[in-house]
Amino acid sequence: MSILVTGGTGYIGSHTCVDFIEKGKEVIILDNLSNSKAEVVDYIEQITSVRPKFYEIDLLDRDGVKKVFDENDIDTVIHFAGLKAVGESVAKPVEYYHNNITGTLNLLFEMRDHNCFNLVFSSSATVYGKPESVPIREDFPLSTTNPYGTTKLYIERILEDLCIADDRFSVVLLRYFNPIGAHESGLIGDNPNGIPNNLMPYVTRVAKGKLPHLNVFGNDYETHDGTGVRDYIHVLDLASGHFSALKALEKRGVSVYNLGTGNGYSVLDIVNAFERVNGIRIPYQITERRKGDIAECFADASKAERELGWKATRGLDEMCASAWNFEKIH
Ligand code: NAD
Ligand code: UD1
Repeated sequence: MSILVTGGTGYIGSHTCVDFIEKGKEVIILDNLSNSKAEVVDYIEQITSVRPKFYEIDLLDRDGVKKVFDENDIDTVIHFAGLKAVGESVAKPVEYYHNNITGTLNLLFEMRDHNCFNLVFSSSATVYGKPESVPIREDFPLSTTNPYGTTKLYIERILEDLCIADDRFSVVLLRYFNPIGAHESGLIGDNPNGIPNNLMPYVTRVAKGKLPHLNVFGNDYETHDGTGVRDYIHVLDLASGHFSALKALEKRGVSVYNLGTGNGYSVLDIVNAFERVNGIRIPYQITERRKGDIAECFADASKAERELGWKATRGLDEMCASAWNFEKIH
């Protein structure tokens, strides 16, 4: 039996494919390459010596999705495919709802038609909205502040309703905190198009001289140095969380886990660690707060440790070193 990885040529998907292949799983990738490149399949092969089957198909193309299920014996889907840029989602809500929600519905129709009932879904800490306290537990109230986040929350609800209606389904919702870093080969990593929205790819592009300086969005938050605090997790730890999550699929219904480290680091903590580890100065300017940002967001990651035996093991230095190694090579 094979595992279908939608969005498998993307940032988190590609690292997860490597992890699964190295652990002996057969992986099939479906991606429309809207935010990734076909070469990633070559890189996965270079790293693992196994070439996963790859379908360049859009989840909005239901016939295409059907073909993938017709041609393969798939018993589990890891569903990464989706659009993820917060600002863009505010400007193009219809495109975001269509891509993320219709794409997921097409996948669910074809899974059901092909007796495939196991799904791991990429959700996000964004579904906690503005949390009242930190660390954030899975049972905290859910809300969203932008259409991207709302697609995640709606998909979570759709999957809960599906599991109530059809007890053959097992679904794991993984709420990711802030993945950064890259595979040690430097072949795969976070490579956003255009000017990065997220902190670490922005920092690495400043380090490379592609951008003049980092804008630090506010230094008047109630945090230890006034800058925003987040739960940065090495993408390889996040990837291995998916393998651990397979265990939760043995149980029917919906399970939900935070995937984070439980540690909060500020923007300036990241800048300082990056400079120290890589020996490169990152010039920065303090600017206005970014609209919609919150002061602090970090996980209570104890449920995943307790129930899945999963825990992030890589520290901030490794995250900063691997992120820079990837940027240097690309
Ligand atoms: P990514 O953009 O690198 O990967 C997503 C992949 O999905 C891309 O390769 C893209 O081409 C593909 N895709 C998008 N729409 C598709 C469609 N309709 N049909 C087929 N393929 C499609 O993003 P990522 O950072 O690897 O994120 C993976 C998932 O995790 C996303 O669902 C994202 O929302 C979620 N997530 C990411 C983060 C983060 O910080 N990176 C945090 C929380 C949640
Ligand atoms: C962002 C998304 C969130 C998504 C998450 C992971 C927004 C508003 N939120 O969250 O929905 O789930 O990414 O993909 O985009 N920062 C700077 N300068 C920069 C970039 C960021 O100071 O150029 C700061 C931010 O203010 C924040 C921290 O760095 O304090 C991390 O930012 P970012 O990487 O964008 O992640 P999130 O804000 O957590």
